[in-house]
Amino acid sequence: MTETVLLIDDDPGFRDAYRELLAQEGYTVAEAGAAPKALAELRRTSARLVVLDLMLPPSGRPEEGAALADKILAERPAAKVIVVSGAGETPLALRLVERGAYDFLAKPVDPDVLLAVVARAAARLALEDRVTELERSLTAREGDASALLGQSPAFLEAKTLCERAAPTDVPVLITGESGTGKEVFARYLHARSRRKDKPFIAVNCGALAPTLLESTLFGHKRGAFTSAIKDAPGLFVEVDGGTLFLDEIGDMDPALQVKLLRVLETGEILPVGAARPLTVDVRIVSATHRSLESMVASKTFRDDLYWRVRGIEIGLPRLADRVGDLPLLAQHFLNLSRALVPRSPATAISPGAMRRLEACDWPGNLRELRHEMQRALVMAGGRGEILEEDLSPARRHGAPAASAGDEPAEGATLEEKIAALERREIAAALRATQGNKSQAAARLGLSRQGLLNKMDRHGLK
Ligand SMILES: Nc1ncnc2c1ncn2[C@@H]1O[C@H](COP(=O)(O)OP(=O)(O)OP(=O)(O)O)[C@@H](O)[C@H]1O
Ligand SMILES: [Mg+2]
Repeated sequence: MTETVLLIDDDPGFRDAYRELLAQEGYTVAEAGAAPKALAELRRTSARLVVLDLMLPPSGRPEEGAALADKILAERPAAKVIVVSGAGETPLALRLVERGAYDFLAKPVDPDVLLAVVARAAARLALEDRVTELERSLTAREGDASALLGQSPAFLEAKTLCERAAPTDVPVLITGESGTGKEVFARYLHARSRRKDKPFIAVNCGALAPTLLESTLFGHKRGAFTSAIKDAPGLFVEVDGGTLFLDEIGDMDPALQVKLLRVLETGEILPVGAARPLTVDVRIVSATHRSLESMVASKTFRDDLYWRVRGIEIGLPRLADRVGDLPLLAQHFLNLSRALVPRSPATAISPGAMRRLEACDWPGNLRELRHEMQRALVMAGGRGEILEEDLSPARRHGAPAASAGDEPAEGATLEEKIAALERREIAAALRATQGNKSQAAARLGLSRQGLLNKMDRHGLK
């Protein structure tokens, strides 16, 4: 695509000269002699390069051009506006550059200099396009398996289990608090299964009324109920050969639980209003943030279905139990957020802000962290780094967690950093197991005595 240059100058003679010059270099040229026409041309064309002479009618004063520069940038922030100013207008031109104009040229303009500056602006646009494109492809890959980030023991345990279960057809139940990554895991599982080229469909069992959920899952025959004006296949048929993700299965109505059980036992579905069942080949992955076990105990979830869907259970750790992963995840979410806040220069998180993040509880887990990073990026404005002040008030003023003392001082040696990390992981494992040392040791891959020794060394009780 050739870039379009919008030439704004009230002198037709200059416009003719510049037009010829730019057209020879392969640019498409649009032009205007005054502000209203300039804005109209901006809207008509896709011009992102603008050469603007500040002296414009009606007053012929440079402020006229300055106001137009602001309007152009407000309407098309990506535009590169090159300001052409008279000898006495340098301070004004400089102020415009501070406000977002790309560069300025003093009259008389040397044609070679003009071409060089326009070419540089065009190259800059191409580069910015490339960055946007890369960011977009990163966002698109986000649901992708490669984005399953984390190194902490509890997380790796879940990930390994997921990888082992993937190639099988065993039903998998993914449990974990809200925002811990249940859906991400379900997709990861599907992507690593033999079904990866077949559909993956997610359905939230709590979001639909029971009768609607039933016909959504199993389909219906025409006339089965008033609004059934034609046959509908249902998700089990659409997903045939692939993976059906039953999200929030704990919210499924008891009557429907029976029907689901039947599918799992026989591999057959009965569309609403149909006389004969259909055979389907579907792998079931379910998820819930509730304790199905206690629902079974209180008879709100069928125990036969429970055993069916829970072929393998993958329990996802809370973010608070994998603080070791927090820096990595925070940085990852910051990178992702950059796609939503184009032109933001913030790429790093200051050590102070990171300490604050690590000291939080994160009841909303990864999702909450993700929102926090989005917000922080917006708050950071033109700064290259996220500071404590960019975090939401709850994070800034919340009492630092007990683990704040685990933080190695800035400039700590590698050994000190590793010790701090070890202390944090041990504390997290103990918290996750309510202080049960044998269980915590198992989580960490240590013997009980090994754990006791380390707790001793770190002064943990
Ligand atoms: N391991 C991971 N690496 C990177 N991003 C992740 C990871 N796990 C989850 N996420 C991100 O965290 C957010 C929450 O994940 P997800 O929707 O899978 O959680 P959930 O457990 O299904 O939550 P809910 O119970 O609220 O539905 C998403 O934005 C997801 O992209
Ligand atoms: Mg979910």
